[in-house]
Amino acid sequence: MTPSPDRPLAVVVLAAGQGTRMRSSRPKVLHEIAGLPMLAHVLVAARALQPARLAVVVRHERDAVAAAVLEHAPEALVVDQDEVPGTGRALEVAVAALDGFAGDVLVLSGDVPLVDDRVLGPLLDAHRAGGVTTTMVTAVVADPTGYGRVIRGDGGDVERIVEHKDATDEERAVAEINAGLYVFSSTGLASRLAALGSSNAQGERYLTDVVAAARAAGERVGALTAPDLDVVAGVNDRAQLAAAARRMNDAIVRRHQLAGVTILDPLTTWIDATVTIGEDAEIRPNTQLQRATAIERGAIVGPDTTLVDTEVGEGARVNRTDATLAVIGAGADVGPWAYLRPGTRLGPEGKIGTFVETKNAVIGAGSKVPHLSYIGDTEVGERSNIGANTITANYDGVHKHRTTVGSAVRTGSHNVFVAPVTIGDGVYTGAGTVVRKDVPAGALAVNVAPQRNIEGWVEAHRPGTDAAETAARSQGVPEEDPAK
Ligand code: UD1
Ligand code: MG
Repeated sequence: MTPSPDRPLAVVVLAAGQGTRMRSSRPKVLHEIAGLPMLAHVLVAARALQPARLAVVVRHERDAVAAAVLEHAPEALVVDQDEVPGTGRALEVAVAALDGFAGDVLVLSGDVPLVDDRVLGPLLDAHRAGGVTTTMVTAVVADPTGYGRVIRGDGGDVERIVEHKDATDEERAVAEINAGLYVFSSTGLASRLAALGSSNAQGERYLTDVVAAARAAGERVGALTAPDLDVVAGVNDRAQLAAAARRMNDAIVRRHQLAGVTILDPLTTWIDATVTIGEDAEIRPNTQLQRATAIERGAIVGPDTTLVDTEVGEGARVNRTDATLAVIGAGADVGPWAYLRPGTRLGPEGKIGTFVETKNAVIGAGSKVPHLSYIGDTEVGERSNIGANTITANYDGVHKHRTTVGSAVRTGSHNVFVAPVTIGDGVYTGAGTVVRKDVPAGALAVNVAPQRNIEGWVEAHRPGTDAAETAARSQGVPEEDPAK
């Protein structure tokens, strides 16, 4: 939506409340859905309107909330609410801080996080159509518990809003709720807010009472009815937090599906708002894609995979994997059951296989760590193969050290690389080698003691066991007849 040149727009976000019903030491508006604090989602919606002014009202855990405002909307004005409680007071201090602003004032709540242009555009249009000083958003919902109820007169016009705690049983039966989203014309708003009382169940100055005040002044109140809670759901407790997260996830999944991503099971796929996914990628069930994760086209991710701040290259395969701050190259193959910790960079066509943990590990193009290994603080060149069950011993109890492996290396199974150590290009190592010294290019490193076979040991020391009897049979020794 483009700003209307003749009606400047200010957006005020209310975020000063304590959020008692969350029962949390974290301020309510900083609880996250889809990887961002609720307040950040609201600020994204506010900024999309390109308002002339943006103000956020804070009080509870003021510094933490103000820091989030600065992070997500650096241009916003942070307004401190005093100890006088209520949404009406919150808007009053914001209007005072906007200092003579003339135009439309859009009010959003930090705890109504799903708002976007689908409701805000029509709300502003309805208000700008004229004839009103106050326009609000309502919704008819199956369970209106906790919300303010919209009371309409005989002619169908909105008369007043009654808060759940103040409502009679008859009023509580009303299914139309106040979404907590409004547009006010700035003219006369400050004096109307200043006149709000606090004789109600919560002893607060309710912003909602502005509606009855407008009616008392002989005005009509504009009301836009949203079809459901999909964009106007409020979050006051953890159950509503989960419900809002579900709704937002549904919308995010759908957005990716329409952009050409196959998402097999939307119910068990959770994608943060910040994630990008290319066309023809496929996301399999029970997968979480978080923060700055970016998946290129044609990659297959999941099932049972969690990626945080991880890049997956074109056509890569990531199966039953947990990865954080990792980069997976194009056409690479990861998992099943791989654990990629920060600083893992797997080159194109590389492999990190089953029960492998990596950390600060750069594994070059076409190189493979297929089975049962820990590779940390390591650089591996290209086309190398690290044998099964290999450990980089990177920690001496005090310091971490690096392991460097060249290109076209073949290491045997069950090796330990005791860092710092360098293994040259084209090296082979024997099975079971503990590599403590650098290995020059082209060498074979072995340090395992020669094997001794002690003939007859089992018969001598474990007589009568299954092993002894089976060995005897395979050597053609006649069995004793127990009947003799
Ligand atoms: C509010 C509405 C209710 C509506 C619901 C929609 C009022 C009185 N009630 O109720 O009609 O159905 O939202 O979700 O407005 N806040 C402040 N300062 C305060 C108190 C609150 O900034 O002193 C902020 C909160 O941080 C929150 C928002 O205002 O972001 C709404 O406050 P909340 O206490 O959640 O109001 P509800 O009971 O949900
Ligand atoms: Mg609320």
